[in-house]
Amino acid sequence: MFLYHILILNYAGRLEGKVAIITGGASGLGECTARLFSNHGAKVVIADVQDDLGHSVCESIGRNSAHYVHCNVTNEPDVRNAVDEAVAKHGRLDIMFNNAGIIDKPKPSIEDVERGDFAHVLDTNVVGPFLGVKHAARAMIRARRGGCIVSTASTASLLGGAATCAYTCAKHAVVGLTKDAAAELGQYGIRVNCVSPGGVATPLARAFTGMRAEEMEELMSAHANLKGVGPLKAEDIAEAVLYLASDEARYVSGLNLVVDGGFTVVDSSRTSRMVWNIRQE
Ligand SMILES: NC(=O)c1ccc[n+]([C@@H]2O[C@H](COP(=O)([O-])OP(=O)(O)OC[C@H]3O[C@@H](n4cnc5c(N)ncnc54)[C@H](O)[C@@H]3O)[C@@H](O)[C@H]2O)c1
Repeated sequence: MFLYHILILNYAGRLEGKVAIITGGASGLGECTARLFSNHGAKVVIADVQDDLGHSVCESIGRNSAHYVHCNVTNEPDVRNAVDEAVAKHGRLDIMFNNAGIIDKPKPSIEDVERGDFAHVLDTNVVGPFLGVKHAARAMIRARRGGCIVSTASTASLLGGAATCAYTCAKHAVVGLTKDAAAELGQYGIRVNCVSPGGVATPLARAFTGMRAEEMEELMSAHANLKGVGPLKAEDIAEAVLYLASDEARYVSGLNLVVDGGFTVVDSSRTSRMVWNIRQE
């Protein structure tokens, strides 16, 4: 019984003593991950541009566990400062979650996409994670304790046509950044991975689809490959990030962990019920 309690306590405290920065932690997937990390014992630094929201999320997590820093991920001094502030406040940085991201408005054709809009998405979704990897690596290499870097990609890192052109390009690039950084930083014991969520009804996804949360979840469930488990939730993504950040993933690096219920491995146009019925005959 005693051993059982120890095991449960350890399982609940999978990030005990660790310090994590979460960019885009004021909302959606980042906020949910910040709460889960904190429940598992981590000190969390939320780095975002939505200052009021970021402060109120930290307040509700608890001031001893969460701390807010204004950080525009496209601005290198901001990212450097977020890393330095985490180290100054907590004495270490163990986990960097490069999660902040945006999506541009869908256009009827690539001909209608403005250069500035394309570049803005690449700046936030690729340059942002690059700066996060760069400055986290700086702190982690100096501390010689290893570390873990996770970035948020998307199923758009595997598929064309699922989002906008800029977003698809950016999320493919996040996978490239992850692999290249994993190759270089492995020598310091730093693991680098990314997570690729399917559609989750966050503010970003709701603005993109123009749907209410329930509407979006209903649509996603109807198109999902995995049935009977309900719609994909922010908590599912947070659990995947927790796994990558925890010691359970101590030998996992360079991975794109796709959390989409198998959506991207199934070509629904070819695996229809009709095809299945033909095979049965
Ligand atoms: N929701 C989905 O369906 C989905 C699917 C795949 C991938 N993603 C990715 O997940 C990540 C989180 O998105 P979300 O769905 O939680 O959306 P969200 O809008 O709820 O959260 C994104 C957060 O990033 C912050 N942010 C935006 N630009 C920033 C900047 N320049 N600097 C700092 N912070 C900035 C926002 O203020 C916001 O708090 C993004 O990278 C997104 O591309 C989302």
